[in-house]
Amino acid sequence: MLDMLTPSLATLPPVESDSLLALIALCNADPRPEKIDVGVGVYRDGAGTTPILRAVKAAEKLLWERQESKGYLGGRGDVEFAKLLRPIVLGRHADDERIDGVQTPGGCGALRLAFQVLKLANPYARVLMGTPTWPNHPPMAEGTGLEVVRYPFYDAERRVIRFDAMLDALQAGRPGDVALLHGCCHNPTGADLDPQQWQAVTRVVVERGLIPLVDLAYQGLGRGLDEDGEGAWGLLDVCDEVLIAQSCDKNFGVYRDRVGALFVKTSAKDSTANAMAHVLQMAREMWSMPPDHGGAVVRTVLQDEALTADWKVELDAMRARLNGVRAQIARADPRLAYIAGQYGMFSMLPLNFDQVKSLRTKSAIYMADSGRFNVVGMSDEALPRFIAAVVEAMDG
Ligand code: LMR
Repeated sequence: MLDMLTPSLATLPPVESDSLLALIALCNADPRPEKIDVGVGVYRDGAGTTPILRAVKAAEKLLWERQESKGYLGGRGDVEFAKLLRPIVLGRHADDERIDGVQTPGGCGALRLAFQVLKLANPYARVLMGTPTWPNHPPMAEGTGLEVVRYPFYDAERRVIRFDAMLDALQAGRPGDVALLHGCCHNPTGADLDPQQWQAVTRVVVERGLIPLVDLAYQGLGRGLDEDGEGAWGLLDVCDEVLIAQSCDKNFGVYRDRVGALFVKTSAKDSTANAMAHVLQMAREMWSMPPDHGGAVVRTVLQDEALTADWKVELDAMRARLNGVRAQIARADPRLAYIAGQYGMFSMLPLNFDQVKSLRTKSAIYMADSGRFNVVGMSDEALPRFIAAVVEAMDG
């Protein structure tokens, strides 16, 4: 019999659960039919639904017809999937043999593996992380034992990147420290580096001998597939070591299938092979092999020219809707004008936590505590009500 002084499951402290997951539960529990969920980052069309992309549906049909076995694929998952992603994720570096990629369960799986292999390579490395950032970044890095050093990334009053502070923080990095960078569609602010800023960041990364880890979870939903990859590609141009944690969950709309990949570059093909052997061993310890279905679907799309073309049309349409809704919100009030100049699924509204909470209770509008909202979380029909409620909250 365990007493309360012996550490056990019963003596665990209460958990501080991920704020975004808690928000999903809160919204689900609200019975009001008019509720608006602009919390978690899931694309919704004008009708307010998250449809399965045509290209994905067609690929699933093909897969159902053609797949003959559910036998294990091995730790790398679908090898062809990672290969076909290369031109998209790596662009002009697609043929670089010093870069290897492996399928992971979503972008989360890729990030976790990245942090873990970085910790193994250099236990003293610190992760330089701009704030605010995606709430899961710090615990994932810290969960591997890496120290996180936060710096201010965004000026929430002026709605701009605190670029000087960012450069100063990277300048203060020690050789071997990890620079965690959002490849595009910054989560939660929507404030993306412009090409000149990417160049300046890349210069400091090289000068200070930092290792960039790029979170590329929203490629294609910002400025375009290539434009959104350019920051990472510029790093690959000049850095010996780069890690890219990629996700197809958003740009293929396969959220629950958990589809991602980790790409690792080192200075030589042999050292990349060795690093990747460690990555695969770590994956083996955590999930053994990635789930297949979503990766196989993406692979099937990318193997087929017509389906790939259709996917790109659908991706363009998602991006157009994002930018269209941004423009509509920006036009509604001068205080929201900045939203038109930001990218991706999120921006932060000029609301404090009390205003965010009152939107929940009064108007059944659910956004993150920080005021981050999913730009395409609501239907076209709900958009005017959303804007009116936000403006009222700002005034109140
Ligand atoms: C988000 O930030 O809403 C998405 O990345 C979904 C998630 O897993 O948090």
